[in-house]
Amino acid sequence: MTAPMSSQGANQGRTQVGIIGAGPAGLMLAHLLQRAGIDCVLLESRSRFHVENRLRAAVLEHDLATLLRQVGLGERMDRVGIPQEGIRLHAAPDHAWRIDLAAHTGRTAMLWGQYELVRDLIAARLDAGAPLLFNVDAVRLDDLDTHRPRINYRHDGEVFTLDCDFIAGCDGFNGICRAALPSERLAMHQHAWPFSWFGILTEADPAWPELVYGGHPDGFALASMRPPGLTRFFFQCDPDEDVHSWSTDRIWQTLHRRLDAGGTSLGEGHIIQRSIIPLRSAVTETMQHGRLYLLGDAAHLLPPTGAKGLNVAVHDAVHFATAVRAWYAQADFGPMARFSEERIEAIWNAQRFCASMTRLLHRMPGEDSFGYRLRLAEIAYLAENRFAARSFAESYVGSANEEMLEAYLRP
Ligand code: APR
Ligand code: PHB
Repeated sequence: MTAPMSSQGANQGRTQVGIIGAGPAGLMLAHLLQRAGIDCVLLESRSRFHVENRLRAAVLEHDLATLLRQVGLGERMDRVGIPQEGIRLHAAPDHAWRIDLAAHTGRTAMLWGQYELVRDLIAARLDAGAPLLFNVDAVRLDDLDTHRPRINYRHDGEVFTLDCDFIAGCDGFNGICRAALPSERLAMHQHAWPFSWFGILTEADPAWPELVYGGHPDGFALASMRPPGLTRFFFQCDPDEDVHSWSTDRIWQTLHRRLDAGGTSLGEGHIIQRSIIPLRSAVTETMQHGRLYLLGDAAHLLPPTGAKGLNVAVHDAVHFATAVRAWYAQADFGPMARFSEERIEAIWNAQRFCASMTRLLHRMPGEDSFGYRLRLAEIAYLAENRFAARSFAESYVGSANEEMLEAYLRP
């Protein structure tokens, strides 16, 4: 393997920020640091093909779509992505509403698959000739309490070390970085929801031009899209469900029952992919120790109902990049010192929104008819009361964050 950084010894390198994990958090951070002239090395345990083809989240908040344009990542998004001016809520065939995101907030959400963003970020980094190593495993972090923390990583059975000023742990929920925080400094707040999502990707044109969230008495369902011309569906299932135990007919029956409304029926097509997705919520406090910082799924998980996991991961990267810049440009360590505290407040706010949407739209085990009618009344109130709808719309498209954009984009 070619040594990606100034070599100190055959297997030894040095960089300013060592980044572990090339998901959206790590890649976005690397992109922003690179633009600010800060040197970083990105280490990813999986192959490029694997990370570019993982079917994950897809909704970007308004300000993050703006930021992507401003940092050279907007061209394909604006050509292929699908702006969402509203979302639909279906509760049963005769209960259907639309929340007009644009009218309530003057802003929209952008449907842009996480893998598309990841592909653009990888292409930009490789085109710039910046170090991004696939198929390397970070195995141990050393000297986190010093000014020269170190990543030990393995490639093809050989061990390499990377000396850094800072380490960004962007290695997802099962990575090694969170485990490197001393347990006495770490509080994990987590919750496993008593249901999962059955997800499929199909070759069918979307029946609705916007996302449809279904809160049917039988359980949750969602119709989403992946351009061009693919539909992504989800429906609530038991947590111990086996993906193979669902016949194609049963999948379509379930989706029709939970999503069809107002005389419109969803379109069926060949199912390309099917999977079961557990719903978990988690917040790690603290997100930093010494010179190690946790970003994205490494620090928190959100149930996908509120579509915030990707957004929170990218916000972490923007916030951290801004703090790193303040350190190198002005020797101001304040933003680095406050990183965890500031992000945790925003993350609990995102958890609030995702948990409330999850409770609103899913059937809890043992729910009786009273429980469902109460949920239905809440869904109707949310959609029909302009204050409630506006509050929902603001959370969904992301609160206006000019300060964040300005702070980052300031030369
Ligand atoms: N060494 C190097 N890379 C690692 C290691 C390791 N020891 N352990 C894990 N990784 C890599 C994983 O292979 C993965 O590509 O870290 C990356 C973490 O990426 P993500 O899981 O996508 O996490 P993140 O960038 O925080 O993005 C969060 O992903 O799960 C969705 O809904 C979630 O949209 C949110 C987003
Ligand atoms: C998706 O398209 O993957 C998607 C969209 C909205 C959500 C969750 C997932 O809330």
